[in-house]
Amino acid sequence: MTERLSLPPMIEPPKGKRLKDKVVLVTGAAQGIGEAIVAAFVNQQAKIIISDIQGDKVEKVAARWRDQGFNVHAITADVSRQQDLHAMAELAIERHGRIDVLVNCAGVNVFRDPLEMTEEDWHRCFAIDLDGAWYGCKAVLPQMIEQGIGSIINIASTHSTHIIPGCFPYPVAKHGLLGLTRALGIEYAPKGIRVNAIAPGYIETQLNVDYWNGFADPHAERQRAFDMHPPRRIGQPMEVAMTAVFLASDEAPFINASCITIDGGRSVMYHD
Ligand SMILES: NC(=O)c1ccc[n+]([C@@H]2O[C@H](COP(=O)([O-])OP(=O)(O)OC[C@H]3O[C@@H](n4cnc5c(N)ncnc54)[C@H](O)[C@@H]3O)[C@@H](O)[C@H]2O)c1
Repeated sequence: MTERLSLPPMIEPPKGKRLKDKVVLVTGAAQGIGEAIVAAFVNQQAKIIISDIQGDKVEKVAARWRDQGFNVHAITADVSRQQDLHAMAELAIERHGRIDVLVNCAGVNVFRDPLEMTEEDWHRCFAIDLDGAWYGCKAVLPQMIEQGIGSIINIASTHSTHIIPGCFPYPVAKHGLLGLTRALGIEYAPKGIRVNAIAPGYIETQLNVDYWNGFADPHAERQRAFDMHPPRRIGQPMEVAMTAVFLASDEAPFINASCITIDGGRSVMYHD
């Protein structure tokens, strides 16, 4: 067996003022793409409330940034529980008096054989990957409507538009998340609210490193993933996070009910 892989360090986020004083909520912020979004947003001077079902881990993320003087607070929240997301929104209003941005990032991969999958797996996938985002939107929309401005960013997937065999029912929920993005984007545009999605492709997170390490030759498996993509690499969490910065900022005022794909062009190809 060849040497096991480990996760490369997170790309350093650029510093700036693109989100100065914006109040941002991020779910699923304890690790992976959510953790990179927190790093990117604090470095653009946002004030952030973050949450995750892994309470200790998300508190460590917040504490790391707070120790450096940034305005970050964490709470434990399970996105499949509507009341947890309401508590998160209330905390933001209590601390900062407004909510400018919500990033629905919490998600789980549920990849099962359709006929062998349990009811529990089906419901868990939808409860987290779709209901969770809807509950987040429901929690922040009244405040955003009152303000007359807001930006919601749903972390969807290339599975929102494409099907890979063996991944059921994750793409069903992620297609639904794109539908939710479009429907709410249209519904609330007259109130000054933008709802957009980001569809990452293959991103180098711990989950994927663990997956490669399950093979006899993890390096070869990683290389195989790289070779499937036109730039001969996969994406980094910070590349997703910087797209979220753009959609959250005042630089994207006419982008609504849209989805930005981040996959190096992979999903445009018909064949390798
Ligand atoms: N990594 C990829 O290649 C990739 C590709 C496309 C889309 N995505 C999407 O990006 C998002 C983040 O994924 P990631 O790769 O960083 O995964 P990850 O597993 O590293 O992070 C997901 C986070 O969500 C949290 N979470 C899970 N269930 C939760 C719940 N019920 N309530 C609150 N938090 C919960 C986890 O604790 C974890 O911190 C997900 O929505 C995922 O579907 C990831």
